[in-house]
Amino acid sequence: MTLPRSVKIVEVSLRDGLQNEKQSVPTAVKLALIARLADAGVSVIEAASFVSPKWVPQMGDSAEVMRALRKAQRPGLTYTALAPNMKGFEAALAAGCTEVAVFGAASEAFSQKNINCSIAESLERFRPVAEAALKHGMRVRGYISCVVGCPYQGAVEPAAVAQVAQALSEMGCYEISLGDTIGAGTPKSVRSMIEAVSRVVPMTQLAGHYHDTYGMAIANIYASLELGMAIFDSSVAGLGGCPYSPGASGNVASEDVIYLLNGLGIATGIDLEKLAEAGRYICEQLHREPASRVAQALLSRRSRVVCA
Ligand code: HMG
Ligand code: MG
Repeated sequence: MTLPRSVKIVEVSLRDGLQNEKQSVPTAVKLALIARLADAGVSVIEAASFVSPKWVPQMGDSAEVMRALRKAQRPGLTYTALAPNMKGFEAALAAGCTEVAVFGAASEAFSQKNINCSIAESLERFRPVAEAALKHGMRVRGYISCVVGCPYQGAVEPAAVAQVAQALSEMGCYEISLGDTIGAGTPKSVRSMIEAVSRVVPMTQLAGHYHDTYGMAIANIYASLELGMAIFDSSVAGLGGCPYSPGASGNVASEDVIYLLNGLGIATGIDLEKLAEAGRYICEQLHREPASRVAQALLSRRSRVVCA
């Protein structure tokens, strides 16, 4: 067993995290968080979501966020945004996005609740988005929700995930992010799912997107690393959830993932202390403690040092 030497982290707190907050976070706070994440060395930030503001009002300032980021573009940093249909794509294009993500599901019930259509219909909607994006020289990422379990349907078969992954890959998605939306997976179920998907899409194009509802996300990342996966989505301070997945808690915390990877000697280019500082900043704004155990440990160590 050889673990990857380096891992790419896709920071999703701005989208997957803040989309689930009761109150909308001001655009200036989003931009300040993005600047702190960039200072910490994060190189891919999912910053916005061009969905219906009636469905997800927290993402209603996506055009403003992306325009501000375009003006202050930093070299080596990619900003991405969700675009579920052509309307979302046109808005993303106008706001200067260079990469968009479509998001489907391996469960019919979740697809209906989340994007109001069946899996087959969603793929039909994503196809023109992918075509248009590629025509404009943009990259397209594909998400699949409910890769091991669905809040409405229960267990999800690995074959169902593989089928959607293959369709997304064939329409031009360069990377497929496998979402354990409800965090129900354990290393065994996650491994079976990845094995099935990697038979149809190369491992180098697969990402793990694990929510930490049952505290299994770090174990699932380790199991995925053992299979050769080297791309993970995470959210600073463990912010997040999914508005259409009742009870689902946040994504795995970026601080926890970086602590794990540092301990394994796997490079990410991310400075853990600065990352924890970014998490502290957004938690202060939201008046809460970080969900990340690593962040809590780092912050309490820091306050002990200050008091001593
Ligand atoms: P719909 O109602 O079926 O769409 O929504 P429609 O085409 O029938 O249009 C209805 C209205 O929405 C129209 O406006 C459209 O213009 C408007 P009206 O005429 O009523 O004023 N509309 C839009 N407005 C802005 N941007 C758009 C857009 N499209 C239509 N792109 C839609 C379909 C997908 C838009 C809707 O269901 C929606 O926005 N859903 C939100 C889903 C969402 O954001 N979920 C959370 C993100 S996914 C996630 O968190 C999972 C992930 O993290 C992985 C994991 O953890 O599993 C990625
Ligand atoms: Mg998610």
